[in-house]
Amino acid sequence: MSTNTLLILPGDGIGQEVMTEVRKVITWFGDKRGITFDVSEDLVGGAAYDKHGTPLTDETMAKAQEVDAVLLGAVGGPKYDDLDFSVKPERGLLRLRKELDLFANLRPAQCFGALADFSSLKKDIVAGLDIMIVRELTSGIYFGEPRGIITENNERVGINTQRYTESEIERVARAAFELAMKRGKKLCSMEKANVMESGILWRQVVTEVHKDYPEVELSHMYADNGAMQLVRAPKQFDVIVTDNLFGDILSDCAAMLTGSLGMLPSASLGLPMANGRPRAMYEPVHGSAPDIAGKGLANPSACILSFAMALRYSFDMGAEADRLEAAVESVLADGIRTADLLQSDGQKPASTSQMGDAIVAALDASL
Ligand code: IPM
Ligand code: MG
Repeated sequence: MSTNTLLILPGDGIGQEVMTEVRKVITWFGDKRGITFDVSEDLVGGAAYDKHGTPLTDETMAKAQEVDAVLLGAVGGPKYDDLDFSVKPERGLLRLRKELDLFANLRPAQCFGALADFSSLKKDIVAGLDIMIVRELTSGIYFGEPRGIITENNERVGINTQRYTESEIERVARAAFELAMKRGKKLCSMEKANVMESGILWRQVVTEVHKDYPEVELSHMYADNGAMQLVRAPKQFDVIVTDNLFGDILSDCAAMLTGSLGMLPSASLGLPMANGRPRAMYEPVHGSAPDIAGKGLANPSACILSFAMALRYSFDMGAEADRLEAAVESVLADGIRTADLLQSDGQKPASTSQMGDAIVAALDASL
């Protein structure tokens, strides 16, 4: 049997406490399902900066290259706001994405039945929502050169470059078509081909890749219209594929449709490694939430569901991923809520660890 290796990087803020709950789940799978993980832990973001003066050491980067999957909590906090750009906590995260070449970022936006009331939209518009945003994660304006702040004609000029090669577009398009084939066979590609050459090329390449997936219904949308459609009628979408910057924005928009940022996981996938598993990093969509860190208020579900995505995409254990997702759903259906999901003032919230324990109890009940 091959070993399953995991590197846990809790990071900053609530990253620490939600990861403690993920560890309970990992232990459960070892004890009750005989699925064991070789787990190591290290620092990233502000926590790494505090100890080493850098948000990600070369040693940690090297470890990340060796494991099957990285599980990351969150990075950042007000304490680091004034740091030089090059050592900000976010740079650690961006380095992991870039050097692991995690080009396909999967961000599901699923509306849990028990939580449909939380959306800022009407319940019938979001109930049963299940869309998947595939965001390109290693190129585009996040990484394009030239970049910087220069002086020209006695004034400062800020420069970033949107740049995509056709192979970069092709590989993320292929990942999105593959996912669409396993879901509702609908793919919508979003760019700004009306104003950007990179958008014109994006549309051309996605259309070319479509020839290999004739069963998938492909549509194209300008990203601004896409944002509008996401809040108007989100259930028209199945899989959406888009670039790095549009994906950043559209995925936040889609996440909030579900009303509960504390519930949403993500997976960032790259090319297959020698053992056939894809390079991969899993992280909750929520941030480090410094305002509630250390108070036991955080919802560990997003991070636990990120581990479920690891079971599915890194370890090919779809049935165990289903089991874990169902456990989270049943806890919600039982009315157990962390503070972010409370509906009335009278209700007493479950703490971070109570929520984790409830999910483990639901896993027990699934046996
Ligand atoms: C995200 C975040 C990151 C991004 C930040 C923290 C660098 O907003 O993962 O969506 O912009 O990609
Ligand atoms: Mg973002």
